[in-house]
Formats: sequence, structure tokens, C-alpha cells
Amino acid sequence: MIKKINHVGVAVKSIDAAVKFYEALGLKVDHVEEVPSQKVKTAFISVGGTNIELLEATSADSPIARYLEKNREGIHHICYETDDVASELDRLKKAEIPLINETPVPGAHDMLVAFVHPKGAGGVLTELAQYKKG
Ligand code: CO
Repeated sequence: MIKKINHVGVAVKSIDAAVKFYEALGLKVDHVEEVPSQKVKTAFISVGGTNIELLEATSADSPIARYLEKNREGIHHICYETDDVASELDRLKKAEIPLINETPVPGAHDMLVAFVHPKGAGGVLTELAQYKKG
């Protein structure tokens, strides 16, 4: 079951540069983490019950590096938090929604995540994420 929007992902060239805006708003970076499986460095900024996730590429073949070759810095994806990514993926497969990840992969914050292709999601790259149990 989808619980809430966990975060909005924002692609940036430099987390250090982008953070200045959020700090000017009075917000703080709670957590910085490299996610090798996605070739990104992430910074989570807590806003009420949800987060902004800044995403910086850690390699030239990172999905974020490729995104920034074609697009400006800006909103990259929306992440829905669920208690069970695998069952969300099963439902989406039955609905013939195109997926980027057919099975969950490790994400930031010790979460299991999977991405839905934007072509099946109204143009919005959509992430599903669940906190690992235990
Ligand atoms: Co994300």
C-alpha cells in the first residue's frame, strides 16, 4: 500500500552549490549518502513529513549525468513510500505499466527501491521505496 510521498528527487550538478538555496529557506541537510547502485551522491533535506533528495552524479555514466546532458537541473523524480515494493511492482505489471526495475534494488537510506518508466506514468519518473524491515 502506498503511504505517502517520501521525497521529490532533484537533479543537480553540485550538491554543495544547490544546498545554499535550501539553507537560505532555513532547511538543513539531514543525511548525505553515496548510492553505488545508482552512481549518485544524495543529500536528504527534511521538509515536514517528506524530503527533498538532491542527486549529484558520481560518474560520467550515472543516470543523473545522462539526465543533465539533456535537461536542466531540476525535478527528476517523485518517490512514493510503500510497505511492499514487490507487490506494487506485481500490480503495475498486471496493469502493463512499463517498469525500469522489474525487481527492487538497494537505494539510499537502506531502502529497497524500484523505478517506473515515465512513459507509463504521465511523463513522471516514479520511484517506489520501502524501508527494509529489521
Ligand atoms: Co529518489
